[in-house]
Amino acid sequence: MALASLVKHYHAPGRVNLIGEHTDYNGGFVMPIAIAMGCDVYATPGGEPELRLESKQFAGDLSFPLANIATMEKTGTWADYVLGVAREILALGLELKPMHLSINATVPTGSGLSSSAALEVSSALALLDGHELSPLDLARLCQRAERNFVGMPCGIMDQYASVHGKAHQAIMLDCRSITHEYVPIPDGAEIVVTNTMVKHELGSSAYRQRVAECQEALSHFPGKAALRDVTFAELERAASQIAEIPLARARHVILEDLRVEQFYAAALQGDLTAMGKLMVESHRSLQHDYEVSCEELDSLVDIALTLDGVYGSRMTGGGFGGCTVSLVAPEAIAMFESQVSAQYQAKWNLKPVIYRCTPSDGAHRVA
Ligand code: GLA
Repeated sequence: MALASLVKHYHAPGRVNLIGEHTDYNGGFVMPIAIAMGCDVYATPGGEPELRLESKQFAGDLSFPLANIATMEKTGTWADYVLGVAREILALGLELKPMHLSINATVPTGSGLSSSAALEVSSALALLDGHELSPLDLARLCQRAERNFVGMPCGIMDQYASVHGKAHQAIMLDCRSITHEYVPIPDGAEIVVTNTMVKHELGSSAYRQRVAECQEALSHFPGKAALRDVTFAELERAASQIAEIPLARARHVILEDLRVEQFYAAALQGDLTAMGKLMVESHRSLQHDYEVSCEELDSLVDIALTLDGVYGSRMTGGGFGGCTVSLVAPEAIAMFESQVSAQYQAKWNLKPVIYRCTPSDGAHRVA
């Protein structure tokens, strides 16, 4: 048998979130799409009893004895996402087979487009080697890998979108019931993602801090399991008891959940104007109440909103750099690309990278 035929190829996509930011770990709603960029894993079984990893993007050929994986410390490198997945597979009582994974990520790392979820999900498919998990269990396993081993207390959105993506459809995900509906993006607009090309280091510590601030706000509502369960009227009634920062965080989360539901309804009605307006409101709330934006993201949004044919624009993902997502009329995209590039570059001396994104299928075996 030719060696090439032993190699199994898996792909998992990155995602861009259209609306519903920092709501997933509060039991709320999000609406991401899976994108064409993602992570490809080429898996060759056999060899020594170890997991060998190499990546096109990072130098080095790493190997980890299978017997050490359950107890090892994290390495502080990209390999931790794969090792975290391997540990969660072991924790299910499943066997890890000797394997060599050759990894090629097409989603830029640190861009807020979920390169980590794409790596986790594609590696999980490879390491599971045909052992079937339900799509939800696969997404949850990868989320646990990131929370338990990498140490990032993320919600379920990224891994869920990478697993459940569908061509031409956005995913309306209820992070409480962890169920979704697909929603077509109305004709007449395309999803355009613009990369600030900055990633401020603050990101992961600020993320943890936001999770804690949401918990603090929630502690004022005994009997409620998550901020998802608190209405805006209840928040207003309790406002004088809550410190300013957790109050602002909770205001963002509660209003953002309402915006996702309104966005969903507007998408079903094909109302691009309403969708765009909600995206801008979401951005302003992330900028002022949740404080996870940055000057580069704000300026991309502000530039986009001066241009014809732009329905709306907002930061997407965790924040502190990364990308914006804009809804743009197809005939206005060329102008968008040239104007956004020229104006952003003039202001920051950085060339933004612009991607046209179409909703794409979720993780799968390619060959
Ligand atoms: C990161 C996390 C997600 C989500 C977003 C913010 O991408 O991994 O779970 O919380 O930030 O919406």
